[in-house]
Amino acid sequence: MIMPAARILDFPEIPVVDAGPLVRDDKAAMAATVEQIARACEDVGFMYIRNHDVPRPALEHIVAEAKRFFSLPAQEKKSVAVENSPQFRGYLPLEYTGNEGEKGKNLQEGFMVMHERPLDSFPMHGPNQWPAALPSLRTAMWDYFTAMEKLASPLLRGFALALGLDRGFFDESHQNPMSVLKLNHYPPQEVMDETEIIGVGGHCDGGSFTILWQDSLGGLEVRNKSGDWVGVPPIDGTFVINIANLLQFWTNGRFSSTEHRVINRYGKDRYSIAFFVYPGHKTVISPVVDQSRGKFDSVICGEDMLKYFRRVYPQRVAQSA
Ligand code: OGA
Ligand code: NI
Repeated sequence: MIMPAARILDFPEIPVVDAGPLVRDDKAAMAATVEQIARACEDVGFMYIRNHDVPRPALEHIVAEAKRFFSLPAQEKKSVAVENSPQFRGYLPLEYTGNEGEKGKNLQEGFMVMHERPLDSFPMHGPNQWPAALPSLRTAMWDYFTAMEKLASPLLRGFALALGLDRGFFDESHQNPMSVLKLNHYPPQEVMDETEIIGVGGHCDGGSFTILWQDSLGGLEVRNKSGDWVGVPPIDGTFVINIANLLQFWTNGRFSSTEHRVINRYGKDRYSIAFFVYPGHKTVISPVVDQSRGKFDSVICGEDMLKYFRRVYPQRVAQSA
């Protein structure tokens, strides 16, 4: 995709937004939230949200299952490796080729699922892979997936309002979403030359936006205009929301998909759960605001997603007969 020129932003910290009015659809109180969202998306690309209404038990359940999953013997995890799946579902081992490119290795292992849809002409439709050794993982992940989709709707409404668009502007495009739920585990690392080994190297996310839960350790950092890495320290009861590449494109760069990375400097295992909100794969995106800033082609969501995934994740290598 041709990205609009990235706006490099100067910010000292990540704002905290009260999402309550949006989540409750409280029209009287919504204007202040929408204004905070506009500021955060334009000036930072990242925000914390509080009052999101995601039930704590669903969260605690998936965190416990994630820890169980990553503690399974390597061979159990490898039995559901992404490289066995043509549709990028399953386990990503430590040091998979990620955003670090030629520069180094990541120190993150992951587990990804998406909606299960029948195989068809879109190469990312298909089944998930689930570890036989941990059947309870499936329920926990689907409960959490459902909670994340429920939360994504009011946030999309907030983004539309923050852009001065009709509140339902993003609803139809996100009807059959390609959203991805990914569990992450970062073992503690010795911090040496940061470009060589890192939790996850500097990158921008690929979808519309991301809803991230992080544990109480810390380690997520966001890059500002001065080139400083600004910490996103954990705040209990919040999620971190970040604008991703498709919304940056959709808004012609008004909303920022901001570079971020993870370094686990804390000597303990770190866990996070990312929900990458994607539109339906057939969605055709072209900039809907600030069109006077340059001229841009449109992007087909599924094509862009496939390109991103092929670049960042391992894929099944065709076996010769
Ligand atoms: C990601 C990501 C941050 C974290 O998965 O894209 O940036 O804290 N994760 O794990
Ligand atoms: Ni990310």
